Amino acid sequence: MSLTQLQVVLRARPDTALEPGHLALVETPLPEPGDGEVLVRGRWLSLDPYMLAQINGRHVTGNLEEGEVLRGEVIGEVLQSHSERWKPGDLVRGMFGWREYAVAAADALTLVPASIREPRWCLSMLGMPGLTAYAAMHWQAGLNPGETVVVAAASGAVGSMAVQLAVRSGCRVVGLVGSHEKARYVIDSLGASDCIIRWEESFAEGLDRTCPEGINVCLDLVGGAFLEAVSARLVVGGRIVLAGVQKSAMAEPLAPVLPALWIKQRARIHGLVVYDFEPRREEFLRDCVPLANEGRLVVNEEVVEGLRQAPEALVRIQAAQHAGKVVVKL
Ligand SMILES: NC(=O)c1ccc[n+]([C@@H]2O[C@H](COP(=O)([O-])OP(=O)(O)OC[C@H]3O[C@@H](n4cnc5c(N)ncnc54)[C@H](OP(=O)(O)O)[C@@H]3O)[C@@H](O)[C@H]2O)c1
Repeated sequence: MSLTQLQVVLRARPDTALEPGHLALVETPLPEPGDGEVLVRGRWLSLDPYMLAQINGRHVTGNLEEGEVLRGEVIGEVLQSHSERWKPGDLVRGMFGWREYAVAAADALTLVPASIREPRWCLSMLGMPGLTAYAAMHWQAGLNPGETVVVAAASGAVGSMAVQLAVRSGCRVVGLVGSHEKARYVIDSLGASDCIIRWEESFAEGLDRTCPEGINVCLDLVGGAFLEAVSARLVVGGRIVLAGVQKSAMAEPLAPVLPALWIKQRARIHGLVVYDFEPRREEFLRDCVPLANEGRLVVNEEVVEGLRQAPEALVRIQAAQHAGKVVVKL
């Protein structure tokens, strides 16, 4: 076992866009577990858009300070344990951050269920993004067969799961995506009926073309003009789940007409924070693990080799140049 490890820290907060140079790779001694702690060797690190918000100083979980190791969810293996709860070889999940090895308190770890065919999925379709999509579609919106469901960022980690859950519920699904390649994936592999490519037509044109009878449910991960265009096309009893806002949309003032549209359509508008649904994770896994194991739920994974490549990968997520769920092989 090597006696040092790599970590990634925030060197400087970006003024505008993140560049790899805002992050620094540092080599540090391997940490030693104390009483009630374990040493974990990271295997897979999840890369997610919320990391950009933490770096930019505007995330619900708190912001990153300069010099701090980037936060992130990791699947790893227990190497040493000073706790009766864990033994070497246990496969665990925890917020260990952008580092190869971590010392964690015994109660900060969660066992990766042995029933999951690919442990990595605990960071994607069977993890936080999957739980977000499940909570949005089933627990907040509630889906009925035959409804029209619009999903933003439909090829991404959250969106791709939402598309599949809605298709499985007998809904007609329209995805919003950033390229023809992503549209092909969302239609051919995930089962959506149609896609709007956000560079090619306005939101209004795209929604009129794909949802001529109106929209029953929308998972909004964009905000701004997209939310406005969706709100204007809701059917009576429509539901919108608000779970993400793109930086470009944050600059757009919310149209004052929106509340009137929601009232007129007796709409239900839900704000979603996935951490509220942690207590229901088991329920979500009971439903989705068999489907994933049987290949009836899928995820498009982009694997990044090693922490050295991770800063550049996060910059690609910022530019929406990634494919599906990005995980770093540690
Ligand atoms: N509320 C919660 O608890 C919660 C939990 C998890 C995730 N989220 C949020 O959900 C969103 C999706 O997360 P994810 O992990 O699945 O990421 P993701 O979809 O893989 O990445 C974000 C995607 O958003 C799309 N996008 C970027 N800029 C856009 C713009 N200006 N207009 C429209 N679409 C744009 C891009 O897809 P295209 O190029 O294909 O359009 C981009 O790939 C993020 O905003 C994340 O912060 C919220």
